[in-house]
Amino acid sequence: GPLLFGGRGEGAGDERQMRAVPERVEMLAARVARLIALRQTPRAKRRLAIVLFNFPPNGGSVGSAAYLSVYRSLFNTLQALRGAGYEVDLPQSVNDLRSRILDGNATRFGTPANVHCHLPVDDYVRRETWLDEIEAQWGPAPGRQQSDGRSIQVLGTQFGQVFVGIQPAFGYEGDPMRLLFESGFAPTHAFSAFYRYLREDFGAHALLHFGTHGALEFMPGKHTGLSGDCWPDRLIGDLPNFYLYAANNPSEATIAKRRSAATLVSYLTPPVVHAGLYSKLHDLKDSIDQWRALPPSNGEAERLADLIESQAAELDLSAADVGQFDTNTRITGLAESLAELEATLIPQGLHVVGDAMSRNDRLEVLTAMAAVAETPIEPAALSKLVDAVPMKDGRADKADTVSRLADVNRLLSQDHELGALVSALDGNYVRPAPGGDLLQAPEILPTGRNTHAFDPFRLPTTFAIQEGARQADLMLQRFADDGHDLPEAVAFVLWGTDNLKSGGCPISQVLALMGVGARFDTYGRLAGATLIPLSDLGRPRIDVVVTLSGIFRDLLPHQTRLLAEAAYLAAAADEPIERNFIRKHALAHQATHNCDLETAALRVFSNAEGTYGSNVNHLIDGGTWCAEEEIADTYAARKSFAYGRGGEPTQHKELLEDVLANVDFAYQNLESVELGVTTVDHYFDTLGGISRCLERAKGTTVPVYIGDHANGRSRVRTLTEQVALETRTRALNPKWYEGMLEHGYEGVRHIEAHVTNTVGWSATTGQVSPWVYQHLTQTFVLDEVMRERLAALNPAASSRVANRLIEAHERNYWSPDDDVLAALQDAGEQLEDRLEGVEIAA
Ligand code: BEZ
Ligand code: MG
Repeated sequence: GPLLFGGRGEGAGDERQMRAVPERVEMLAARVARLIALRQTPRAKRRLAIVLFNFPPNGGSVGSAAYLSVYRSLFNTLQALRGAGYEVDLPQSVNDLRSRILDGNATRFGTPANVHCHLPVDDYVRRETWLDEIEAQWGPAPGRQQSDGRSIQVLGTQFGQVFVGIQPAFGYEGDPMRLLFESGFAPTHAFSAFYRYLREDFGAHALLHFGTHGALEFMPGKHTGLSGDCWPDRLIGDLPNFYLYAANNPSEATIAKRRSAATLVSYLTPPVVHAGLYSKLHDLKDSIDQWRALPPSNGEAERLADLIESQAAELDLSAADVGQFDTNTRITGLAESLAELEATLIPQGLHVVGDAMSRNDRLEVLTAMAAVAETPIEPAALSKLVDAVPMKDGRADKADTVSRLADVNRLLSQDHELGALVSALDGNYVRPAPGGDLLQAPEILPTGRNTHAFDPFRLPTTFAIQEGARQADLMLQRFADDGHDLPEAVAFVLWGTDNLKSGGCPISQVLALMGVGARFDTYGRLAGATLIPLSDLGRPRIDVVVTLSGIFRDLLPHQTRLLAEAAYLAAAADEPIERNFIRKHALAHQATHNCDLETAALRVFSNAEGTYGSNVNHLIDGGTWCAEEEIADTYAARKSFAYGRGGEPTQHKELLEDVLANVDFAYQNLESVELGVTTVDHYFDTLGGISRCLERAKGTTVPVYIGDHANGRSRVRTLTEQVALETRTRALNPKWYEGMLEHGYEGVRHIEAHVTNTVGWSATTGQVSPWVYQHLTQTFVLDEVMRERLAALNPAASSRVANRLIEAHERNYWSPDDDVLAALQDAGEQLEDRLEGVEIAA
């Protein structure tokens, strides 16, 4: 946990002397003292608070985390702690553990989990140091979140000396007005009270935040070098903070370290497998194989061709994905679509802390790794390798593929995480490890280590500069293939993670579009931007409206300035405007708005400092928005802060609207197999949000493209194609959903998330094919056995699935037949009754 305790003042003379900041020095001393106290307290006497998350609130998501089977992992953790000497009252089973957290007295209080205790409002008011700030934002204590009007509820359950608590929500998730105007100056009463309870009343020796990720480190305040005025620092105080965090997310992990002084303990993401084909996709492939084996213009071949067409139509493969060509071309096109579906890699199931990866899963992972290795390896050799007795001596010294894979196999055959957690909670040093995706960065193994990022001065790397230029060409090629002229401007979303993992490929892609290079000083450190001469570029400079995630802005300040400088240099270049669209648009803006070039050339947009995301995800999740205008407004309110060459943001809503009016398409890259555009709500939150603004600015729909670099080769797809691919390889694929359902409650929540995120894309872009909803409805709601399973495992999330599909129909994203609609509505009512019934019965 980095802590800034001194520095040099800005003035002249004495002001410039290095000096300490007493308040920070005291915090540093307090944190060290608490760490020593943790070490010195015997395990049997230690009080530990484990914090689970609940996002979205009230959605059957108590205890959910990215890629993690939370309750199984928690059970294993409690067991390990008990084995290590902690006083833990261990539940009988995972189900018992889950039920003691989720059920308990929850029905009595109408809460999403057991109420552990009530904090009386008088007591809270007396003890809340920052009451004025919280009341200014949330009204008089105890507020409306997690309160009964007289007291604040702390959710969770105690197991001996270990308290498992549920982190309260941000508080504005379901409230469209707040989402639009929320300036985010303070957490809710309940949020602040929860952390005070852990620090002072429960008296934790240490906290363990359980999985990726919660809201603490995203509370208002500075992005780095926090002070006592920053909320994450106030809330965590001097408590030793440990964070079980996904190994593939170094960017948000870095925020957790910087902003909440967390020591990370990494966990593995689920195995990556080939999606394969299933049910009717299989049948279709069989028919195509038979057809191929026959001579053309043979009677049977013609009958088979008809069958193929109808099989494809039933799967909705033909209409969306194959144009109106002759039979041969159509069937070849179908075969290619099937081959893509079959070969697509998907994450399977959820990770369990404490369980080593199974033999079959290791084989899948090694096969995926071998597929992109320079020297191919036979399947038989891989099986042998997976079955080999692991060598005891450390890492393989040979750098060849086989020994690298043997190494990976050895490291995956054992759990490294439980031991690491127990050791970290003793206050021991946690060894560092880079963050990344297992397939591309096996150096993340063994997990159970403290994830670090990179040297920010070295981005973009030489390789990324080449690769980014190649990817820029690919995207332009796809746009041309779709029948368009060279774009004058594109809207490009940049994330931190993608750049961290790829050495800055997406940044380089933006620079390549603008025709700008990066300059490095003699130490190899990033020093600024430089124009590539038009003659070398060979095409006009394309204008790029860049949207940074709040995380990118925090982690990559040098690159933020680099991008701003690139746009400025291009705008200022004395070049013909037909060869320089940045200049063309900047001069036009200047002419109509009478501003300086510096302003007219602002192209890098993000949030105000200390805030993250566009809130469009919350708006969609709440489901109560009426007009698409609200989505554009919500987005623009949050993401219209322009970052100039000086690095300071100023809000420029009008400029954003003006530059978007020139944009021809919106684009974002996908860098890892673990994440799809329908996996998390952040993709539609930003890329979708900006597409909605674009549509408003232009008065017409614009294409949205996804550059998929996850499978080891690059493909640029339309958003429609990407959602279709993910729906077929994941949501509708038994390999994917059975992998999820094996983990029960949380698995259903992940299926629900896929459905909600799909609706998010319809709401923001209108570019999801209607069949997607039809097939999701068939698979998860109208299939009675499946509906029962989901409802039994997670009544709240299963009811949300049905309601979300009904909402999709009401918003005209699909038009089911009358009987399908009636069945869906009927099922929706049953699920809701059942949800209430379950609550009453409990
Ligand atoms: C990022 O790395 O920028 C990011 C990560 C997760 C969600 C959104 C953005
Ligand atoms: Mg996040």
